[in-house]
Amino acid sequence: MARTSSISELLMIAIRKATVEDASPIATVHVVAWKETYRGIVPDEVLNNLSIQRRTEQWVNSLSDTTHAYHHAFVAEADGQVVGFANFGSPQEKDSGFDGELFAIYILHAAHKQGVGRMLVNAAVNGLREEGHTSMMVWVLKDNPARGFYERLGGVYLYEKPIEIGGEKLMEVAYGWRNLDKFPA
Ligand SMILES: CC(C)(COP(=O)(O)OP(=O)(O)OC[C@H]1O[C@@H](n2cnc3c(N)ncnc32)[C@H](O)[C@@H]1OP(=O)(O)O)[C@@H](O)C(=O)NCCC(=O)NCCS
Repeated sequence: MARTSSISELLMIAIRKATVEDASPIATVHVVAWKETYRGIVPDEVLNNLSIQRRTEQWVNSLSDTTHAYHHAFVAEADGQVVGFANFGSPQEKDSGFDGELFAIYILHAAHKQGVGRMLVNAAVNGLREEGHTSMMVWVLKDNPARGFYERLGGVYLYEKPIEIGGEKLMEVAYGWRNLDKFPA
């Protein structure tokens, strides 16, 4: 029987800081991974209207501006091709009790479950530490199986809140790491 091979079985994974030249490949991963992850969770209309071009423009803005809230990002490359990214910085909610946030982590489905996510989170944690942060939180949709990934890395369930996406009310859950020196806990 034919065997499906995965990206990292064939290629070497490298993690590096993202630059503005990565805006287009990051946007592609962002849109493809949203469609792979959120079908059945987020309204179809939202997913069908995602635009790589619009995302690229947003990423050009944030990656080219060192003061932008979403400036700091790492990419995972497989043989020179971006297959995942993570970005991080100061939390959007100032009263969270955490001084760092993992804003997003998305990896193409073909590269899942081979350690790329752990490598990207480790890079983000080191990036947060370099910027003087001591703790980290992350928001994840309640129905997203990725919650298991954060729990595996020692994230502690904090609280949840409603979020409206495409006119539908969904729930988001926050996980936290209070001491990044002890990461992954
Ligand atoms: C969530 C995601 C980043 C995890 O990345 P990954 O490369 O697949 O994870 P890793 O291979 O590094 O896994 C690290 C550990 O977590 C475990 N793990 C990974 N995904 C898991 C899941 N969904 N549930 C439970 N455990 C999980 C792995 O088994 C591994 O455990 P081990 O230490 O015992 O080997 C990736 O699946 C992804 O991009 N998903 C789609 C996008 C998404 O949902 N992003 C989060 C938005 S908030």
